[in-house]
Amino acid sequence: TVYPNPEIASIAVAHRIASLIKNKQQKGESAVLGLATGSTPHRVYVELIRMHKEEGLSFQNVITFNLDEYYPMQPDAEQSYVSFMYNTFFDHIDIDKNNVHIPDGTISKNEIHGYCLEYERKISALGGLDLQLLGIGRTGHIGFNEPGSAPNSGTRLVTLDDLTRRDASRNFGGKENVPTKAITMGVGTIFKAKEIILMAWNSTKADIVKKAVEGPITAEVPATYLQLSDNVEFVLDTESSSAL
Ligand code: GLP
Repeated sequence: TVYPNPEIASIAVAHRIASLIKNKQQKGESAVLGLATGSTPHRVYVELIRMHKEEGLSFQNVITFNLDEYYPMQPDAEQSYVSFMYNTFFDHIDIDKNNVHIPDGTISKNEIHGYCLEYERKISALGGLDLQLLGIGRTGHIGFNEPGSAPNSGTRLVTLDDLTRRDASRNFGGKENVPTKAITMGVGTIFKAKEIILMAWNSTKADIVKKAVEGPITAEVPATYLQLSDNVEFVLDTESSSAL
């Protein structure tokens, strides 16, 4: 779906999330959301906060799982995805903080494997993700599933692509300060979500959006795996869709 600008597109996505939450509330059920960081979903969170403050949208029945976190990363560091999620979203809504899950960038190396299996198990135990929000990196990554990721990959420790670290360098005051690794949900984890929304804005994403939507399905561009899913929608603005 192509919208005239990121603002209108983000409001549409936020309203879909709000409908899901309200439908689940009516049935006395939880909404299990897979959330993303980055500049792309920022306006979605702003609109959801507005709906909470002005329209009384409650997040008390919402359980969230974030896609990824840098590794190693202290949760209270300015660049952590924990800081991003609380500053941008969780601190401004009524979500129960026990219902928030973000990969732990402090876990010791020999515990990571078990930790990642447990992250998957928690999602499955809740019946899976109702909705997964995604951005897209210029390498074609979803979450931090960089080129080479397998379609059935699970939550795991990965090595970041050089382009990803260059793109992140402005937040870290130089590429040399960007962690070389991350913990990410896998492509397989994402695929199990009942609904997937990938958002991309601006001309900087036009080339990778074209590859993801129209290119051959390849591990070199993990977002191309989404072509294999019936439950995925690309939400774009005029600029990011301009090469299609
Ligand atoms: C990071 C995140 C991704 C995100 C991507 C794009 O690498 N791990 O989940 O989709 O960046 O970021 P932005 O939305 O700022 O363009």
